[in-house]
Amino acid sequence: MKLTIFGTGYVGLVTGACLAEVGHDVLCVDVDEAKIAGLQQGEIPIYEPGLDVLVQRNHKLGRLDFTTDVRRGVEYATVQFIAVGTPPDEDGSADLQYLLTVAREIGRYMTGNRLVIDKSTVPVGTADKVRAAISAQLAERGLELPFDVVSNPEFLKEGAAIDDFMKPDRIVVGTENEQSRALMKKLYAPFNRSSDRMVYMDLRSAELTKYAANAMLATKISFMNEMANLAERLGADIEQVRRGIGSDPRIGYHFIYPGCGYGGSCFPKDVQALERTASEVGYDAPLLQAVERVNRKQKQKLYQRIEQYFAGDLAGKTFALWGLAFKPKTDDMREAPSRTLMEALWDAGACVRAYDPEAMEEARRIYGERDSLVLCSSAQEALSAADGLVICTEWSEFRAPDFRVILDRLSVPVIFDGRNLYDPELLSEQGIDYIAIGRSNWSPPAPMAAIEGSCA
Ligand code: UDX
Repeated sequence: MKLTIFGTGYVGLVTGACLAEVGHDVLCVDVDEAKIAGLQQGEIPIYEPGLDVLVQRNHKLGRLDFTTDVRRGVEYATVQFIAVGTPPDEDGSADLQYLLTVAREIGRYMTGNRLVIDKSTVPVGTADKVRAAISAQLAERGLELPFDVVSNPEFLKEGAAIDDFMKPDRIVVGTENEQSRALMKKLYAPFNRSSDRMVYMDLRSAELTKYAANAMLATKISFMNEMANLAERLGADIEQVRRGIGSDPRIGYHFIYPGCGYGGSCFPKDVQALERTASEVGYDAPLLQAVERVNRKQKQKLYQRIEQYFAGDLAGKTFALWGLAFKPKTDDMREAPSRTLMEALWDAGACVRAYDPEAMEEARRIYGERDSLVLCSSAQEALSAADGLVICTEWSEFRAPDFRVILDRLSVPVIFDGRNLYDPELLSEQGIDYIAIGRSNWSPPAPMAAIEGSCA
């Protein structure tokens, strides 16, 4: 089938590459000329394992092409995906301006029937707005052409997006139109071979499904973080509690890892947007509000523990930071807990020596050159003369470090672990103070003597 995809961001590019990989002919459209020129040369604007190979191979084979020509995109195919960004507005609601611009362009240039597929995460009711925008353009042109708008939300995880797309656990399709359902089934047939993954429903339910899935996952995390905070006060160990509850199949082991808070481009934005949608229909959604509030507090937690450990005296100190990305296998730092931590440390007059396997360029782009941030080329280098190590992201390479090297390099033998990577007993044997999340085997020491330090 021939397919057009508007938006070559994370969702659009992964969708385009995977659909081309199974044999569809895909044209990706974006207004960003530099990005399209780069993609034509095989340059991938984001880090996602396996994406470069897929894009380059399918481009070479002529099944995947890129353009800034919107009209060509609309004319190219009957099936048109909209996968442009829906960033949060100032009030937390999703900003639909890019999406509705694409809808208008489709209405302006379409010449025959079209199936328009909403792939972007959009508030309930958006498909109706897309439909209205297309109809208005057609009316201006004095035309009546058949088209349908379908909701087909994505459930891709950064770092595992290719696998998620190729082996989906469900393909949600929101439309009550039989013809559109049949076309969607044909389009996704290559991904739907072992068992039927298609889940058909009405449009609004499909739109809500995406938000409900992310809000549910965010709720699990905030719940566990709340239990962790409670465990600390009650003298319990959240890691043991986690294993204890995860063994119940109704709860399960997935997504119950406590930590320094969830980040990324989806959970924070989607929980807020859903709250906003709820308030627009007169419902105050107390659970969603709490999920967000718990997460905001949790992101401050590492800083609070550091402040407590050093009795508030952080000016002039330097901290090694392992992990900048909001989670492993990505270079994405959007809403990352590392940012909340670094910014609080800087406000307190401390410096950071940071290392991340993938996000160094992103950190440089966000924060530029500054004295208070040294970007190091290895985890070991970040440790040099630091007044403690802080871990924000659970990259595999941080899981089994040589603790003697850590002890040798740090000026103060303390690890603040936002991801509970280590065994507290082992670290205590090594003579390292280990301050993790929801583990109560540590109580604040007597205020430490001020230690002079600089970023050098
Ligand atoms: C998420 C959804 O998983 C995906 O289905 C949707 O399409 C987009 O949003 P993503 O943002 O890539 O995907 O990240 P995810 O792997 O879900 O993790 C989100 C955040 O939750 C990360 O900051 C992670 O560290 C945190 N997390 C996850 C926890 O703190 N504990 C857990 O147990 C799991």
